[in-house]
Amino acid sequence: MRLRGAAGEQPLPAWSPGAHIDVVLPSGLVRQYSLCGDPGDPEYTIAVLREPNGRGGSAEIHDSALVGRQLRIQGPRNRFELEPAPSYVFVAGGIGITPLLPMIRETTARGLPWQLHYGGRRRDTMAFTTELHALAAHPGAELTLYSDDLDGPLPLPAILDSAPRDAALFACGPAGMLAAVRTAAEQHRPGLQFRFEQFSAEPSEVENPAEPATEDAPYEVELSRTGETVMVQPGQSILDAVRPLRPEILSSCEEGFCGTCETKVLEGVPVHRDTILSAKERARNTSMMICVGGCASARLVLDL
Ligand code: FES
Repeated sequence: MRLRGAAGEQPLPAWSPGAHIDVVLPSGLVRQYSLCGDPGDPEYTIAVLREPNGRGGSAEIHDSALVGRQLRIQGPRNRFELEPAPSYVFVAGGIGITPLLPMIRETTARGLPWQLHYGGRRRDTMAFTTELHALAAHPGAELTLYSDDLDGPLPLPAILDSAPRDAALFACGPAGMLAAVRTAAEQHRPGLQFRFEQFSAEPSEVENPAEPATEDAPYEVELSRTGETVMVQPGQSILDAVRPLRPEILSSCEEGFCGTCETKVLEGVPVHRDTILSAKERARNTSMMICVGGCASARLVLDL
């Protein structure tokens, strides 16, 4: 699906490989999609796999007549930046190939060696294989496809064992696959530079397990743009408490793993219960996921 700026609007913001956008669908559902086109293209490209057992977003995109309609988007945001490394190993599960594809194009353009291990349910339904084969024709590039019906699951221990010593590992796919990649990396290549992005609805326990809710008393949240304040009651999310005053705030998973509701913290000490922020980002306390996060101080001031 291709998206262009509405007539008379500013050009779409620039992005880098690994970035994603939030798309507000006509029903009001908000879903995240990786940008999988070329950062130099003035239009955005996203790829949406129809998930018959999904949460409804992909079915709506496939079944609605969206061509020519105006959609609201938020972003792009990038929590999956292609960090510098002498070589790369990419591991993709299913539609998790989408953020990796622009990374692979960029790595190829820079003349750096890469391996892609790409698993899918069936070889004939795996996306972007024609372009990937063309990219893999470049010197130093190596593409291996695995289909569940012919090859079984990704042979992660062997993939990790064969990764070049100086490689950075980037993985994207469902939570179960990422947990398996992490376990294999810890066992076979401890110390390997490893970045991942989750592509599934279930919350990930891969990096930052959510903390349990601890507030047993109300606390105050100030919305800095107007100075309004709201009280957040025990058991209530900040998102629910501020929504009557800021109905335009976007949210999607409401479980702390998609990043759509990330909000800047201007004052106060948040409690982080998301599975997105790294330990360093948590310690900085400059942003939080307001769908699950709480407050460890008397009040919070948020950039809302
Ligand atoms: S809505 Fe997904 S992290 Fe808050």
